Amino acid sequence: MSTRAVIEGIGHSVPDRVLTNDDLMKMVDTTDEWIVQRTGIRERRISSPEETTSVLSIRAAKKAMAMADADPGEIELVICGTVTGDMPFPSTSCLIQEGIGAKGAGAFDVGAACAGFIYALSVAGAMIEGGQAKTILVVGADTLTKFVDWTDRSTCVLFGDGAAAVVVRARQNTDRGLVKTVLLADGEGAKHIDLQVGGSLHPVSDPASASCRSTIYMAGAEVYRFAVNAMGDACCRALELAGMDSTDVDLFVPHQANLRIIESAKARLGLPDEKVFINVERFGNTSGASIPIGLSEAVAQGRLKPGMLVMTVGFGAGLVWGANLIRW
Ligand code: UT7
Repeated sequence: MSTRAVIEGIGHSVPDRVLTNDDLMKMVDTTDEWIVQRTGIRERRISSPEETTSVLSIRAAKKAMAMADADPGEIELVICGTVTGDMPFPSTSCLIQEGIGAKGAGAFDVGAACAGFIYALSVAGAMIEGGQAKTILVVGADTLTKFVDWTDRSTCVLFGDGAAAVVVRARQNTDRGLVKTVLLADGEGAKHIDLQVGGSLHPVSDPASASCRSTIYMAGAEVYRFAVNAMGDACCRALELAGMDSTDVDLFVPHQANLRIIESAKARLGLPDEKVFINVERFGNTSGASIPIGLSEAVAQGRLKPGMLVMTVGFGAGLVWGANLIRW
């Protein structure tokens, strides 16, 4: 039988500080009613200055390793899906590798914004199925609130911080593991979500960068229209590749950006409420952490058990989108 990439441990970590919609009403011209009706978000977690992306990631990784009973020395590779690394370099994966004591492991980041975990897990799956590694730590983590303009009501109400990690192992003689992956991108949409300053185009050291945006920009309505189609398309494609249909799905864990986008994907796939995992009301959009936090909470709540078929799907800046179909 072929080698499968099986998730055997999962854990997540979010900052303690809660920012409610009422708190935001004191900061910008908004209302709890607008935020709940348009997004479904009621509160989000905000990291402290010390809580960097690697700090949250290491906390989550240790929980995942404990569940999988994985020693640091067993981890051969650390892959972190993030766009808010501690620094442009070194990679956040290297900081996680050091933080968990995985001496000898390789480490690299994957930059796919809110689809970061989808992309990172699919790379891990291919490495394992190809025989290049036996145990990989995959992390999805972001601290977007550190890059938010707290005077811009159209973006500051949306984001939260967090991290989640999984331990993926090579297993034989099982039908558990990553079933199918779909990864897609459309760079023409790069202009719809960006953070201009800090890269080689607008280096912080260049005085001309002072006139560029150093906080998140998003054309919300354009991204919304894209997301509604992208979520359903990626899921349908993954199911088609697997020779399955949506009735085979036991649990749907979509990127938690906006409740209305999740509802439209749910309707397109014809899924009942009990098969859809939603926590956007408590965390907002945590970017690369959003899907694995959902998986981690679903496991903790007993909604996701070994053998179940789970569909994950995400989209974000790039534009990128993709889906992973997993036999848990
Ligand atoms: O993971 C990354 C991917 N990003 C996303 O998934 C975001 C996708 N987009 C969205 O979720 C939605 O577009 C938003 C939630 C961002 C916005 O919802 P919308 O229904 O598309 O609203 P809108 O941008 O069309 O704005 C409608 C109105 C505007 O006022 P006018 O021009 O109609 O008078 C905005 O100025 O709502 C206003 N508005 C607000 N009002 C109160 C925008 N933000 C706020 C706010 N509170 N926080």
